[in-house]
Amino acid sequence: MAKTKIAVLISGRGSNMQALVEAAKAEDYPAEIVLVASNNPDAPGLEFAEAAGIDTEVIDHRDYDDRQAFETALDQTIKLYNTRFVCLAGFMRILTPWFTERWRDLLINIHPSLLPAFKGLHTHERALEAGVRIHGCTVHYVRPEMDDGPIIGQAAVPVLPGDTPDVLAARVLEAEHKLYPQCVALACSGKARVAGERVRLQAREFGAELLMNPHD
Ligand code: GRF
Repeated sequence: MAKTKIAVLISGRGSNMQALVEAAKAEDYPAEIVLVASNNPDAPGLEFAEAAGIDTEVIDHRDYDDRQAFETALDQTIKLYNTRFVCLAGFMRILTPWFTERWRDLLINIHPSLLPAFKGLHTHERALEAGVRIHGCTVHYVRPEMDDGPIIGQAAVPVLPGDTPDVLAARVLEAEHKLYPQCVALACSGKARVAGERVRLQAREFGAELLMNPHD
C-alpha cells in the first residue's frame, strides 16, 4: 500500500508529532511523515524527528519581513517534499487565509478543547474556570478563522475534583496522542472528506456509549 506523505509543523515539544511518527511505523498506517518543520529553531521536537530519521526544516519567522514572506517560504519548503497533507501539532504561528486556503481540506490541526468551546490559548484554565464537567480535544480541518473548521474527531475526558490546569492538560494530552493519529489516518485514507463544511466519515464510530460525568 502506498502511504500518503504528510508534513508536520511544530513550534515546541512536539509530543503530538511523536505520536504521529510512532503510529506511522505500523505497516498498515496510511500515512508517512516525510517532513517535520518548525518556525522555532530550538523546538525540542526537532531532535526527536532527526533521531527518527525524518527530514527537518526550520523556517524561522524572525528571518522574514512579514507573514506573507514567511508563509511563502513555508509553503515552498513543504512543496519540495510533495506532501499531500500538512498537520499542525503545536504550531504557534497564526496562519493567514492565503496559506489556509492554499491547503484547504489538506491542513489539519489539533486543539486542546472540545471545539467550538474554548478556542485560543489557556484552554485548560478556562475549562476549569467555566466549571465544565467534560473537556477534551478536537482534530479539525483548518479554516481561516482560528481554531475553526470541519471537525474530524473529538476525544473527551472528565474534569475531576481537585484538577489543576496541569493535571487536566496531561489527561487531555493523553487523549490527543490517541485521537490525532486516528484522525490523520481517516483523512489520509479518504474516509474523512469535507462536504458542505462538515466532515462526512466513512468509518466505524469510535464508540457509541454515553459519556457522562459525574456518574452516580
Ligand atoms: C497540544 O496540546 C496541542 O493540542 C496544542 O498545542 C499542544 C502542543 O503540544 N495545539 P505538543 O507540542 O504536541 O507536545
